[in-house]
Amino acid sequence: MRPYVFINSAMSADGKISTAARRQVRISGEDDLRRVDALKANVDAVMIGVGTVLADDPKLTVKSEPLRRKRVDQGRSENPLRVVVDSSARTPASAAVLGPNTLIATSQKAPRDRAEALKKKAEIVVVGESKVDLTALLGCLKDRGVESLLVEGGATLNFALLSLGLVDEIYTYVGNIIIGGSAAPTLVDGKGLINDFVKLNLREIRQVGEGVLIKWKVLGC
Ligand SMILES: NC(=O)c1ccc[n+]([C@@H]2O[C@H](COP(=O)([O-])OP(=O)(O)OC[C@H]3O[C@@H](n4cnc5c(N)ncnc54)[C@H](OP(=O)(O)O)[C@@H]3O)[C@@H](O)[C@H]2O)c1
Repeated sequence: MRPYVFINSAMSADGKISTAARRQVRISGEDDLRRVDALKANVDAVMIGVGTVLADDPKLTVKSEPLRRKRVDQGRSENPLRVVVDSSARTPASAAVLGPNTLIATSQKAPRDRAEALKKKAEIVVVGESKVDLTALLGCLKDRGVESLLVEGGATLNFALLSLGLVDEIYTYVGNIIIGGSAAPTLVDGKGLINDFVKLNLREIRQVGEGVLIKWKVLGC
């Protein structure tokens, strides 16, 4: 048993989600940022990989004050649970994602001193021997009442989840820029699939601002 999982990502017209130097790029406009904020305000948890923490240092909170208030009126926490997938506890102690309502998923190989330092600012769970066991982590989230999970990247985590069959929907905003660079991360990186590719069913396509929002349902391999 696991939560319902969405991946949401913004990519350039050539499929890149940041630059070759992994520098964060503004790909979408205000309209799409509001859509993502509303999506975030509706889910129980938001997840990112430690690569995204190190590259972008996101806070992962809901930006709109009325949306946060609405969650509280519904008897929910002001923000969704923030989850970082971080086998070796590499999240810096100064990371913006740390604080109340944050869970760092590590593995048994995480150095104890690093895990102890993070424990002062977040909840730590150990799931997996040398890498975070994503299937076990999603089961653990479900057990704590997480029914819906928004994955906000990056490329490596997206691949791992998709290749394990742990994603239900993908929302991609395709912005009106070209980034280029063979080393620039794309929506899905990792090792890639050789065959048994992940099949998708197109659910929606519409213009948002100067780009296009595409919604896919994941059918599986
Ligand atoms: N445009 C967008 O919407 C968007 C959104 C998010 C990120 N980004 C960009 O994406 C880039 C970061 O992506 P990334 O691929 O470098 O990093 P990532 O996917 O955020 O994080 C990957 C890391 O997660 C950890 N991890 C732990 N368990 C794992 C498992 N079972 N499977 C896979 N990974 C696991 C691994 O590090 P350990 O082995 O140390 O645990 C791995 O290196 C940045 O450039 C960022 O700007 C763009």
